[in-house]
Amino acid sequence: MYLVVFAALCFWGSSAVVSARKNRYIVPGATWYDTDGEVLSAHAGGIVKTNGIWYWFGQNERLEDKDLFSGLNVYSSSDLLNWKNEGRALSPIPGTDIGPEKVVERPKAVFNEPTQTWVLWFHADNSTYGQLRQGVATSPNITGPYVFKESFQPLGKPSQDFGLFQDVDGSSYALYSNGDADIDHDNLIVRMNANFTNVEEVVYTFFNFDLEAPNILYTGKRYYILMSHKTGYRPNNVVTFSAEKLAGPWSVQSYIAELGTRTWNSQSTFTITAGEGHHKTYIYAGDQWATAADLYDSRYVWLPADINDSTGSLRIDWHDLYSIDAKTGKVTYPKGQEYEAEQGSITGLAYVTLFEGNSTVTIKNIVGTGQPQWVSVYYHNPDGLCKFSPSL
Ligand SMILES: *[C@@H]1O[C@H](CO)[C@@H](O)[C@H](O)[C@H]1NC(C)=O
Ligand SMILES: *[C@@H]1O[C@H](CO)[C@@H](O)[C@H](O)[C@H]1NC(C)=O
Ligand SMILES: *[C@@H]1O[C@H](CO)[C@@H](O)[C@H](O)[C@H]1NC(C)=O
Ligand SMILES: *[C@@H]1O[C@H](CO)[C@@H](O)[C@H](O)[C@H]1NC(C)=O
Ligand SMILES: *[C@@H]1O[C@H](CO)[C@@H](O)[C@H](O)[C@H]1NC(C)=O
Repeated sequence: MYLVVFAALCFWGSSAVVSARKNRYIVPGATWYDTDGEVLSAHAGGIVKTNGIWYWFGQNERLEDKDLFSGLNVYSSSDLLNWKNEGRALSPIPGTDIGPEKVVERPKAVFNEPTQTWVLWFHADNSTYGQLRQGVATSPNITGPYVFKESFQPLGKPSQDFGLFQDVDGSSYALYSNGDADIDHDNLIVRMNANFTNVEEVVYTFFNFDLEAPNILYTGKRYYILMSHKTGYRPNNVVTFSAEKLAGPWSVQSYIAELGTRTWNSQSTFTITAGEGHHKTYIYAGDQWATAADLYDSRYVWLPADINDSTGSLRIDWHDLYSIDAKTGKVTYPKGQEYEAEQGSITGLAYVTLFEGNSTVTIKNIVGTGQPQWVSVYYHNPDGLCKFSPSL
């Protein structure tokens, strides 16, 4: 394997982990742990806030779970940094459309006022993605356990992936594509019925866009829809469109991250609005998928979005780690100490600009804080540019 051009290390000055496992930073792409110290498993998730608490629903993916569908988990947090496992929101029921051999993906929950019920929506399918349905489960409590109601093709047509958006007027919308089975490859925004148990009216169609992983963010001035291209578990360049009304007109699409980063190796799943007062911070939340064979090792990439409502632009930049005050929405980026590879001693075939095989770079005289610290390693992999064929 032929690898790396240029390398640097960054040590983050203050400790990231203190006793009692209180997280102080959001570290995109790292393994995240819940308040029990267990790996946080809530993939392709959705987040909803009620009574000052965020609830994060997502797919349970663990090494020990061999079933295709092993459950949907729910976690709660008051600070967006520390997440308590609230258990299984939905468990598989053999012999039904949410059986262990089925696909239950992209859970999103919403509270329905008229029925005083929490409604959990998801993409429901079989293992070959041939059923293309949406599933609905309900519970009087946000953390569930949710009772599975039914799965169906919305408005009698196929549905691929699933996003949910609740508008400021309380009405809720399902976001999905009509799938590869449909020649049109459209993406839809569809209003739900009064009790949020079905969909009833298409309010906008993105004709022939063929995108997935949709979610909508509203700033009070503009709506932004974020969607990814369809490249399986490999990341691609997530796009956004903006509009003053859900029914459009929607802008032309633009990329949310620097090209070449494949949205910092992530796929869109939801957005978070932090800050209770006038100042709001919008956070892009994406999944950094491992391969289909080791989905349990997938990570989360959360990055503050830079939004300009007058131009309708939404961009994210990379940050190794940051902290957020969920109440004020204030984001702080700690300063790290950087060490260039040039400062180190090199063995094997490595050059400062090239590593091969078993080469090493050792950087000495790094002074730590005596407590656990985060270390970032920067490198560039030029395999795609390589002339002689590497055995990859
Ligand atoms: C999934 O559903 C489709 C449509 O009914 C069907 O053609 C396909 O055989 C099913 N796949 C499995 C594994 O049952
Ligand atoms: C809902 O939560 C309340 C309070 O925790 C509990 O008493 C009740 O049993 C829960 N209901 C269901 C259906 O789980
Ligand atoms: C929800 O609304 C539909 C259509 O209006 C109705 O058929 C169904 O019974 C309602 N369900 C609940 C739980 O109210
Ligand atoms: C938004 O974009 C407009 C037009 O480019 C620019 O004038 C304005 O300063 C931007 N606002 C912010 C907050 O960046
Ligand atoms: C790396 O070192 C090991 C042990 O010395 C050796 O077996 C292996 O072939 C080396 N790999 C490369 C790519 O040089």
